[in-house]
Amino acid sequence: MCVTGIRRRSTSSRTGARLRHSTRETRDGGHRHWARRTSATRIRAAFAISPIPGQRGALRPTLRDMPDEVLLTGATGFLGGYLAGELLRQTSSTVLCLVRGRSRSGAEQRFRAGSDRIGLPRSDRLKVVHGNLLDPHFGLSPDEYTRLCHRITAIYHCAASVNLAADFTELAPTNIDGTRAVLALATHDGRRIPVHLVSTQGVFINARAEGLDAIDEATAVRPDYAGGIGYTRTKSEAEALARAWNTPVTFYRPGIILGHSATGRCADNDFVARLLRAVIRLGAAPECDGDTTVSTVDDTARMVVALSRQPDTANRAFHLTQADHLAFGEVFEHVRALGYPLRSCGLAEWRRLLFDEMHSPDAFVMLAVWKVAEHLLATKPHHRIPRVDSSATRGRVALELRTLDRGFFARMIDHLVTRGVLPPVPAPASPR
Ligand SMILES: NC(=O)c1ccc[n+]([C@@H]2O[C@H](COP(=O)([O-])OP(=O)(O)OC[C@H]3O[C@@H](n4cnc5c(N)ncnc54)[C@H](OP(=O)(O)O)[C@@H]3O)[C@@H](O)[C@H]2O)c1
Repeated sequence: MCVTGIRRRSTSSRTGARLRHSTRETRDGGHRHWARRTSATRIRAAFAISPIPGQRGALRPTLRDMPDEVLLTGATGFLGGYLAGELLRQTSSTVLCLVRGRSRSGAEQRFRAGSDRIGLPRSDRLKVVHGNLLDPHFGLSPDEYTRLCHRITAIYHCAASVNLAADFTELAPTNIDGTRAVLALATHDGRRIPVHLVSTQGVFINARAEGLDAIDEATAVRPDYAGGIGYTRTKSEAEALARAWNTPVTFYRPGIILGHSATGRCADNDFVARLLRAVIRLGAAPECDGDTTVSTVDDTARMVVALSRQPDTANRAFHLTQADHLAFGEVFEHVRALGYPLRSCGLAEWRRLLFDEMHSPDAFVMLAVWKVAEHLLATKPHHRIPRVDSSATRGRVALELRTLDRGFFARMIDHLVTRGVLPPVPAPASPR
């Protein structure tokens, strides 16, 4: 991993940096050389031109083995780290990762720490661009920004604020304005860079209440389908913004992203982790009809990259999930099977128990995300999420998705215990 030479302006030197290249850049002839190489010659060289079968003489670029550079946002996050890994594995691209940090070296350290946590191999093809989506030009100088724009052939936009308790106004800057900033880069200086936008099936969380029992990849997104949840509303608006932008955008909608199939490594604070904390703390799980769409983080990353390399994906949406919904009742069974004492109770009683335990963060946070819980636990029949059809997506990616059996959930829970998110399984009482 090394630095691209594109660096974010420090706050103190912003004005100066606007007027001149950094010392590193002016001394490094490589940048000027690089600027020349972004010309048509380099782009032609980067694309392996092959005839379209059955169309003599017609040419189209193949995406295979294209030695290009792509920009990835959100690489320090849960999915983004695995996306970086898949881009290394499935492509020959150099991946420029936009990473926040107090300084350039701080951004590199944050990226490296995150990569090491998930076992991402060190590679010269992973480079850090120190920047923040919310700063003008990501905090780069105008020249650096323009060079970045001419350098990349695709943008994988994965960064977001994934806070299920926050309201719309808190999340809009990152999720909407951040997406707008990515789209602006994609169309800067006359370019039309393809954008791969990671969205969420949450944009349909309220669809059943709006009269839609089932959705598929062709279902149009509407603001009311996102319900009253800040996160899903901002993601829905980001999709609408991208759809209207004059550049090719592909939409990838995961359901809930579960842990890594082999290691169980998962997010510490997503809905599933919060729910597990709450049920284990209360020693009680709600009887409910709720279910959700899921995929492991490794499958999700594999699907994004595999689809992004296919032709004809622009302006389409893909549903990155297992064929079947996961019932929360099944998850609670896995928890019981591991040895956690968990009685069943009605949803209304379970909510009362949460209020009784509100002094504990586990119960408090579950109540804070109750608007989401209403849908996922299906507190009322019309709150239940719509049936999600992902067959068109699975038909396009010939990938076998991992089985989510008891062993998989045991690995995920074990990971959460190791992280101190969940208590260990209580030892069985010794016989008297
Ligand atoms: N997790 C799920 O179950 C799930 C389900 C469906 C869809 N998704 C979507 O998948 C994507 C990734 O989710 P995740 O769970 O991996 O999220 P995450 O772990 O919270 O990671 C979010 C990433 O976004 C970056 N980011 C946030 N604000 C930024 C800014 N202003 N400038 C630059 N980077 C910024 C974060 O950087 P820092 O490290 O600097 O904070 C981090 O790398 C999101 O688009 C989300 O909507 C997630």
